[in-house]
Amino acid sequence: MGSSILSIIYLIGSVTFVLGLKLLSKPDTARKGNLIAAGGMLLAILGTIFLYRVADQPLHNYGWIFTGLLIGTVVGVLSAKKVKMTAMPEMVSMFNGMGGACAALIAVVEFNHLINAITADTTAVAIAAAYVGGKLLIILLSLVIGAVSFAGSVIAWGKLRGKISDFSFNGQHLLNLGVLMLIAGLSVWLITGNIAATTATVVFNSIFLLALFYGVLFVLPIGGADMPVVISLLNSFTGVAAACGGFLYNNPVMLTGGILVGSAGTILTMLMCKAMNRSLKNVLIGSFGSSNRVATAGGKEQGHYKEISLNDAAVVMAYAGKVIIVPGYGLAVAQAQHVCSELESFLEERGVEVKYAIHPVAGRMPGHMNVLLAEADVAYEKLLEMEAANNEFASTDVVLVLGANDVVNPSAKTDPASPIYGMPILEVEQAKAVIVNKRSMKPGYAGIENDLFFQPKTSMLFGDAKKVLQDLLVAIKEA
Ligand code: TAP
Repeated sequence: MGSSILSIIYLIGSVTFVLGLKLLSKPDTARKGNLIAAGGMLLAILGTIFLYRVADQPLHNYGWIFTGLLIGTVVGVLSAKKVKMTAMPEMVSMFNGMGGACAALIAVVEFNHLINAITADTTAVAIAAAYVGGKLLIILLSLVIGAVSFAGSVIAWGKLRGKISDFSFNGQHLLNLGVLMLIAGLSVWLITGNIAATTATVVFNSIFLLALFYGVLFVLPIGGADMPVVISLLNSFTGVAAACGGFLYNNPVMLTGGILVGSAGTILTMLMCKAMNRSLKNVLIGSFGSSNRVATAGGKEQGHYKEISLNDAAVVMAYAGKVIIVPGYGLAVAQAQHVCSELESFLEERGVEVKYAIHPVAGRMPGHMNVLLAEADVAYEKLLEMEAANNEFASTDVVLVLGANDVVNPSAKTDPASPIYGMPILEVEQAKAVIVNKRSMKPGYAGIENDLFFQPKTSMLFGDAKKVLQDLLVAIKEA
């Protein structure tokens, strides 16, 4: 009876994950999707704790289980409440690392069970059954993928925090390959070698340490700014490791959850690479976004740029018919979303049509700008995706670029020597006038000059985005 109820609970849990993922695909339903999937997860956890039976016996150690749950919940809720939007990739990385660590620890526990079962019954038949049954293969997959994901996520977290710098040396890729081959060789030996239990334990622990080492080596040389792509990839690794846990325990909800995380992470990684027009290989072994920055696109002279005063910018915008705002990473850093939304409302009261153009990789993580603007209650209908925005720029009087740089760089279309050549961009130069707000002429994430800033239609409005918008608001009220 209990097991049938548990099966139904697992089915409900799996359905909520799929439903949650579907709802997460739109900003206005994302919050609901998250809650539904979290509800399904809670149901599955409680169902497992109270209804799961091992050899017809209920689980025990409830004190430990609930203490762990309580500590995890408190840490999770507090960090989610405290985290700043710009620090979100760091938090995702750390949480992902914890998932990887869980998968690796499950593998350690299950390996010990396997070894105990083998040493209790030393007949060759028992040993062969345990090894050949495939269980050890799943345990090893869970161990290696989980450990790589954990170690890699911790390094990614350190890089995003600025605590760990990019580090590479000649022959690093060869060393990485060597470690990977060693892990594969030891695993094959463990599975097929029919070795004694004590030796097997030593080999298993060596694989664990090597996988941790590989996770560190794998992420260390990748440019700090490429971390969101790497985190998404590691996230998919954790999903696969969790799915291995689902196989081990014959637990359908763990299997579904793991497969969904694994495939969603992979799709997201590919989408991010596509939106940056880079291959995954280039992200993993290229130096783009690392400290080896390129000074100018193609190394050519850029000419002069012109500045605009706050009052002139206010007049241009107050008397425009249509304004499109292009938010970027700088808007997030300045936490200027609320004052930006205020500016939008104020311009609309004056009869100016205002929209936002959202580039898929504006900011530092997927959906960064959407979440930021949603937090400031900007209506979803006002957000134009890249293609729709590109169709509207020609009929726009003023484009206000707020802390965005690479996503509006025309050299992505015109300069084959540019590292971002081929990346689809917001074609803001089609508008009648472009005002760019940033603090200096420094480059953005890709480390390259931006042709847009030197075009005759463009005026630079220097300063911190929040301060500039606050002052602009006052100036427009007086215009
Ligand atoms: P960026 O190209 O990084 O440009 C941001 C600009 O904001 C900088 O040039 C900076 O100039 C300015 N800025 C910084 N702080 C500011 C502040 N307080 N006030 C005003 N301006 C400020 O950003 P983007 O245009 O959003 O492009 C995103 C980049 O990240 C792309 O190259 C993309 O490929 C990459 N990327 C994105 C993702 C995802 S999924 N979003 C993932 C990986 C990589 P100053 O220093 O002069 O102020």
